[in-house]
Amino acid sequence: MRKSGSSNYVFAPLVISLLLFLLSVSPSLQATSDSVYDALIQCLSKQTDQPDQVSEIVYAPSNASYTSVLRAYIRNSRFNTSYTPKPVTIVTPTQESHVQAAVLCSKSIGIQMKIRSGGHDYDGLSYISDVPFIILDLFNFRSISIDIEEQTAWVGAGATLGELYYRIWEKSKVHGFPAGVCPTVGVGGHLSGGGYGNMLRKYGLSVDLVIDAKIVDVKGRILDKDSMGEDLFWAIKGGGGGSFGVILSYKINLVPVPETVTVFRVERTLEQNATDIVYKWQQVAPITDDNLFMRMLLQPVRSRVQRGSMTIRASIVTLFLGNAEQLVSLLEKDFPELGLKKENVNETSWIQSVLWWANYDIGTSPDILLDRNPDSANFLKRKSDYVQTPISKDGLEWLWKKMIQIGKTGLVFNPYGGKMSEIPSSATPFPHRAGNLFKIQYSVNWEVEGIEADKNYTTQIRKLFSYMTPFVSKNPRSAFLNYRDVDIGTQKNDENSYEDGKIYGVKYFNENFDRLVKVKTAVDPENFFWNEQSIPVLPR
Ligand SMILES: Cc1cc2nc3c(=O)[nH]c(=O)nc-3n(C[C@H](O)[C@H](O)[C@H](O)COP(=O)(O)OP(=O)(O)OC[C@H]3O[C@@H](n4cnc5c(N)ncnc54)[C@H](O)[C@@H]3O)c2cc1C
Ligand SMILES: *[C@@H]1O[C@H](CO)[C@@H](O)[C@H](O)[C@H]1NC(C)=O
Ligand SMILES: *[C@@H]1O[C@H](CO)[C@@H](O)[C@H](O)[C@H]1NC(C)=O
Ligand SMILES: *[C@@H]1O[C@H](CO)[C@@H](O)[C@H](O)[C@H]1NC(C)=O
Ligand SMILES: *[C@@H]1O[C@H](CO)[C@@H](O)[C@H](O)[C@H]1NC(C)=O
Ligand SMILES: *[C@@H]1O[C@H](CO)[C@@H](O)[C@H](O)[C@H]1NC(C)=O
Repeated sequence: MRKSGSSNYVFAPLVISLLLFLLSVSPSLQATSDSVYDALIQCLSKQTDQPDQVSEIVYAPSNASYTSVLRAYIRNSRFNTSYTPKPVTIVTPTQESHVQAAVLCSKSIGIQMKIRSGGHDYDGLSYISDVPFIILDLFNFRSISIDIEEQTAWVGAGATLGELYYRIWEKSKVHGFPAGVCPTVGVGGHLSGGGYGNMLRKYGLSVDLVIDAKIVDVKGRILDKDSMGEDLFWAIKGGGGGSFGVILSYKINLVPVPETVTVFRVERTLEQNATDIVYKWQQVAPITDDNLFMRMLLQPVRSRVQRGSMTIRASIVTLFLGNAEQLVSLLEKDFPELGLKKENVNETSWIQSVLWWANYDIGTSPDILLDRNPDSANFLKRKSDYVQTPISKDGLEWLWKKMIQIGKTGLVFNPYGGKMSEIPSSATPFPHRAGNLFKIQYSVNWEVEGIEADKNYTTQIRKLFSYMTPFVSKNPRSAFLNYRDVDIGTQKNDENSYEDGKIYGVKYFNENFDRLVKVKTAVDPENFFWNEQSIPVLPR
């Protein structure tokens, strides 16, 4: 079997600087960009009923606004450098017919199309590519309509989670939606990739509440749940954006939330028995009351007790769908080691808990959820794993040494169980249900641009990932699609794509991979909706 393409990424910056150099000196490559732009404008004008609008939604690299439009939804500064590959054109549709035309025209011109909603893809796949490409940027598709009677909502792909939470709160103080914690994440990528947040033990994933969708398929048709058929509707509830079509919007069921919820954060270092706490957390967090979500963050930090040495800090960050009294008595029973008292917790409303989880103080105006913070990001790398049996105390102590040795990489443990264990693993493409205690997110952020720093920190996180092998799921070593990680394999758009695609596909989707490939082969046999980790078509 051919080696997976992931190693190419290490050299990508070099190859790309070479390409950029060629681009700057070669009139013929410069011409590619101009001719794609011209061809697109021509084709789009023919395909839409208002041809005069077309020049207002297409940005060529020479356009003064091109850079700011491109950067607005770059959410990882690693892909905001001079050597990052850039789109030959950005299309920013304002109407559904523009999306239909963009699909048909990219196909007829033969240019790769990347789809971007909120731009939070951890490895930038919505706005970079190793082949010439355009971006279809959906930030204008942000309409949200809430129906409180019906307890449902239609949400545009380009809406952010913060906007969704805000619009629900405007209409009702006792409804919410289980989705991610970061308010600027886009609905398009988040829901098509699964989508989880701090209510997953109570209500499952975002996709577990999706009841309809609108999508533009490869033929440029707009389909809904009924016209797309059961298989495609299943596939776009977690099988990944960008493999099957362009999602325009999702219809979701809202969920009830109590008027009062409770949050708290406790921190313990190794000197404060963090090892015992982490060990016990593994026994409690995945099986306790479904109303309780206790995320745990593990980070190497400077020790305050032994000057000059490092320790591990475990922070438990919590949402409880109930009041302080209920929470304190629950934890007295389930987790007495925490010694949690009423004065350590804060009762608040659900919308304030959203703000608190997004690192705003309780009392902040929810208006801040409407702030998209364009063009702001860190340099970062993320990876994921699933844990199915608790890590022993010896294992944890060994792990602390490795984390301290490595430097900066942290781990976030997200407990499963509750509703997650009740939903069959084939109900949606997202397979990681019963049998998983918690998901790990590996996390490293840094502030300096450059290939050196990039290599330094990505090497660190990969090292920790390798040390974790004995503790995590095997055959396959599972991963979470929304924690996009090109290290686990990539494909090129060629005759090996099925074999290469299977490598990461089975990790993200386990047993559901085969059904996804069948759906993909049926709805997009020419593989127009391709990306480095899309669902491959069956070999002919
Ligand atoms: C700061 C931060 C916090 C996060 N927190 C969470 C969290 O709490 N929970 C969680 O589950 N995940 C979380 N994520 C991961 C996030 O859910 C995924 O990155 C998600 O895919 C982002 O969606 P997006 O629309 O913003 O991203 P994009 O980068 O726009 O898209 C991601 C992928 O989906 C495709 N896509 C996007 N829109 C469409 C569309 N309309 N139609 C078809 N394909 C499309 C893109 O081509 C790309 O492949 C976080 C990410 C970041 C950067
Ligand atoms: C840049 O592109 C936008 C969108 O197509 C267009 O409205 C604007 O006129 C362009 N500006 C220039 C200077 O070409
Ligand atoms: C991208 O880089 C420019 C400077 O080169 C900076 O001003 C901008 O804030 C950066 N944006 C992101 C999203 O990293
Ligand atoms: C740590 O554990 C020891 C032994 O069980 C106990 O005496 C001590 O109070 C604990 N420390 C903290 C900070 O909980
Ligand atoms: C509770 O909220 C108040 C007001 O924001 C804050 O000062 C206090 O630190 C919070 N307490 C806890 C335990 O989070
Ligand atoms: C590599 O990472 C370590 C922190 O883990 C840091 O001290 C060092 O400065 C980094 N080196 C570079 C070149 O970024």
